[in-house]
Amino acid sequence: MNKRYKKISILAGCLALAISFGGPAAGKPLKKAKAAVPAASAPVAAPSVPAPETAGSTLPAGIKADLEAGQQINGVCAACHGPLGQGGKKGEYPRIAGLSFEYIQEQLHKFKARKRINIPMFPYTEERELPDSDIVHIAAYISQLKLETAMPVFRENEDALVRLQAMEKVFNVPRAEGDVEAGAKTYKSECAFCHGAEGQGKKGRPMLAGQYTRYLNRQIGLFIKGERIHDEDLKDRTQDVLNQLKPEELQNILAYLSTLDD
Ligand code: HEC
Ligand code: HEC
Repeated sequence: MNKRYKKISILAGCLALAISFGGPAAGKPLKKAKAAVPAASAPVAAPSVPAPETAGSTLPAGIKADLEAGQQINGVCAACHGPLGQGGKKGEYPRIAGLSFEYIQEQLHKFKARKRINIPMFPYTEERELPDSDIVHIAAYISQLKLETAMPVFRENEDALVRLQAMEKVFNVPRAEGDVEAGAKTYKSECAFCHGAEGQGKKGRPMLAGQYTRYLNRQIGLFIKGERIHDEDLKDRTQDVLNQLKPEELQNILAYLSTLDD
């Protein structure tokens, strides 16, 4: 399968899933639009300036993943993480779209081996449900999902339906409380080296920008208590940067991170 085809099939798959999982709000209007538009014309006009997307990650060289299989497996994940990997319930379920292949793969192995405790996901990470070969497919699929993070700019003449559909796809982290400037400073000196200058993440290190504040805050709490390991090379976890910072400094970092996808 060539790359372009894969991309198209991912898009088509997302759309199909979005329709089937979107419930009445997302599903109904689409059908109406189809009926109203004559067959020959383009089904849905795109907004004049599409919203910028967060980059989906690139697959590491040499990975042989079946993205169609990944898309099928995602049907299970979508129940909690949403059809586009956008997460839900305000961060009870993290956004997973666009995390790096390496990171997703590693976390799924950790869940499976119960090195990282994730009770809601236990049943879905058992060997029978998620063999290692499937981990490659689903990690590849999710790493390539893109989410739009800014409102699209509209022309004058789109109808309300087109606008609604475009806006429903936009993912944005609401502003978190705290001193954004102070948070930016601490982030740059303490976190950017691993999590990227813009919070975009790097290979085995997750993005922090474009992730729910509530989820990040919960993970910070788990790291501080030692229930999840932040830095595996560190012998004394109380030396971890998250254990060293004051709660106020951490809150300021969260405030800063919440502005990065605006
Ligand atoms: C029953 C709900 C549920 C289902 C189904 C589910 N997840 Fe999750 N997932 C969660 C929850 C809850 C968390 C966050 C756990 C925590 O707070 O530590 C999570 C976390 C994750 C993470 C870690 C994200 C990060 O930033 O570290 C990944 C990756 C993930 N899930 C992938 C998947 C994949 C792939 C599937 C499908 C095979 C799936 N999940 C199915 C509930 C679910
Ligand atoms: C030495 C590199 C390094 C530094 C510095 C670092 N991190 Fe991390 N961070 C990681 C790695 C690696 C992980 C993934 C851990 C795992 O495999 O579960 C992570 C995970 C996280 C997560 C969980 C995200 C998710 O999707 O589950 C949060 C939150 C986080 N880091 C916050 C921070 C903050 C805030 C700072 C700065 C104060 C920071 N980190 C500095 C390496 C680092």
